[in-house]
Amino acid sequence: MANTLTITDNRTGKQYEVPIADGAIRATDLKQIKSDADDPGLITYDPAFMATAACKSKITFIDGDKGILLYRGYPIEQLAESSTYLETAHLILFGELPTAAQLKTWTHDITMHTMVHENIKKFMEGFTYDAHPMGVFISTVGAMSTFYPDGKLIFDQQSRMKQIHRLIAKTPTIAAYAFRHSIGRPYVYPDNDLSFTGNFLNMLFKMTEVKYKPNAALERALDVLFILHADHEQNCSTSSMRAIGSSHVDPFSALAGAAAALYGPLHGGANEAVLRMLKEIGSVDHIPAFIKKVKAGEGRLMGFGHRVYKSYDPRAKIIKRTAYEVFDVTGKNPLLDIALELERIALEDDYFISRKLYPNVDFYSGLIYQAMGFPVEMFAVLFAIARTVGWVAQWEEMLLDSEQKIARPRQIYEGHTTRDYVPMAKR
Ligand code: ACO
Repeated sequence: MANTLTITDNRTGKQYEVPIADGAIRATDLKQIKSDADDPGLITYDPAFMATAACKSKITFIDGDKGILLYRGYPIEQLAESSTYLETAHLILFGELPTAAQLKTWTHDITMHTMVHENIKKFMEGFTYDAHPMGVFISTVGAMSTFYPDGKLIFDQQSRMKQIHRLIAKTPTIAAYAFRHSIGRPYVYPDNDLSFTGNFLNMLFKMTEVKYKPNAALERALDVLFILHADHEQNCSTSSMRAIGSSHVDPFSALAGAAAALYGPLHGGANEAVLRMLKEIGSVDHIPAFIKKVKAGEGRLMGFGHRVYKSYDPRAKIIKRTAYEVFDVTGKNPLLDIALELERIALEDDYFISRKLYPNVDFYSGLIYQAMGFPVEMFAVLFAIARTVGWVAQWEEMLLDSEQKIARPRQIYEGHTTRDYVPMAKR
């Protein structure tokens, strides 16, 4: 017998059988439940989508209680250990790890799209010297839709793939230009001899040397960080990408919107907040007093807790290991000792244990980025580069899903009922 939910409407005494599939009921099945003939039918109320699935997806799986994260079925730990960002991007986008030939073609396709139109440089020149690189990034990605009008051909598979190549390839270039702009250095052209992250480091940090040679350990560390941030199912920015894309706008405009959602401190900005917190604590001796304040409700332990993960965020474990590999090259970030002690104390404290608060991906990532020479303003931009493949994969999945339509939530209206216009003299 199929699983169903039996609902009794106490208003009418009627009973309804609603099918349950994949652990969900269809909200539209509730529309048949009416109090009388004029009733438009029952709807669900779910601010912040706490218990609403807006799509079916084959891309990323998370089990927040067990601390499991899979891309297309592959555990994040194995991908971080053995894969590269571009290989993982192929997996996320096409559903399978590439063969050697496929990886060669894919790498070629991305590498051949890293340059941006010279006018994009001019466009970026218009920003003030101290413009936030994330603001520059969002605006420039949005402006790309004017450079590539063929981006509007969203139902042409070949055109769609071209825009995807452009986005994955050019976001590092735009990010690097935004960074160089913010520190007043000339922009560096892409170097196609280098890997995806090696070239990114080149565009960020090359000075007068003829050929930039990325440090292999830092190049690999950045690649691992990009793998960890590549997708995370229906988070705020990905849901924005899907919702904006559902209007059938071009992917550059949709991705600018997704990046804007990421910019917010509740989403991509948390690692910046962790650094500020660690600096504020200042020394290991001050930790007990800080924890006491957090437990008294005076502020949060940033980088701890997650809406979905109720155990150790699997990405945080990998990042912690990567941190040591980076510090071997850069020297230890002096804030690391505070972070380690903070984590040790919090994980033994009943306040954090009972609320299932564990370190999340942002607890250690900022320490690594800072040690690598990135200013805090760049942290969200780095996140955006890595997440671009997740955004475009989810966007394409949405476009090809026959059940999807323009995203358009309902509301519960609480305003005035009809009333007559009042002339100015009578108000
Ligand atoms: N420090 C102290 N207490 C916390 C923390 C924290 N970091 N996070 C949650 N709590 C407490 C809450 O006060 C609440 O306690 P109560 O039951 O006594 O009222 C309980 O734990 C549940 O917290 P909620 O806010 O209801 O949990 P929610 O799922 O809505 O929040 C969030 C998740 C926003 C991530 C939260 O844990 C938080 O603010 N963490 C710090 C910010 C952070 O690190 N964000 C990055 C998330 S990862 C990412 O977006 C890439």
